[in-house]
Amino acid sequence: MVYWWIAAAVVTAFGMGALVGAPWLPTFRRETETALDLLDLGPGQTVIDLGSGTGTFLLVAARRGIYGVGYEVNPFLYLWSLARTWPQRRYIRLYWRNYWRVELPPADGVYAFLIKRFMGKLDAKLGRELPPGTPVATYTFQIPGRRPENQRGGVFLYRY
Ligand SMILES: C[S@@+](CC[C@H](N)C(=O)[O-])C[C@H]1O[C@@H](n2cnc3c(N)ncnc32)[C@H](O)[C@@H]1O
Repeated sequence: MVYWWIAAAVVTAFGMGALVGAPWLPTFRRETETALDLLDLGPGQTVIDLGSGTGTFLLVAARRGIYGVGYEVNPFLYLWSLARTWPQRRYIRLYWRNYWRVELPPADGVYAFLIKRFMGKLDAKLGRELPPGTPVATYTFQIPGRRPENQRGGVFLYRY
């Protein structure tokens, strides 16, 4: 019975991520580096990862001296990423939150790996909340109605 409840909790947590933004799927290391290169951020700057998963993107950013803020709706991924990024806690702040319900804090760049269905909603949120000129990198899916300023290896760069 306990196992059944654990299985149900895990399925619900992972299913929720898929329903409200994207299922969990990590960005590969090379594409993570590409996204950071395109965002053109340097030490001391801050990047937001919308749906931070296991924290890989923010860990790679931290190795470049970039501060990171991550929002993750799946409690299991949130806890795992919290443990995984603990040694870099000076650089990385993680929140167990639905990013659609969060007003984005000031940042020098944003990264998002969502699914196609949510890219229009993402555009509206970023347009409302980001200061003009903020670079945004998306992986795999483009933002509808916007022309990317640059693109490489499946990563698209936009300027809001
Ligand atoms: C495709 S994965 C990307 C993970 C990570 N950013 C990376 O690139 O390795 C998308 C992540 O976003 C999370 N997610 C989806 N919708 C969300 C929402 N509305 N708020 C917070 N996290 C969300 C999922 O649980 C999943 O971990």
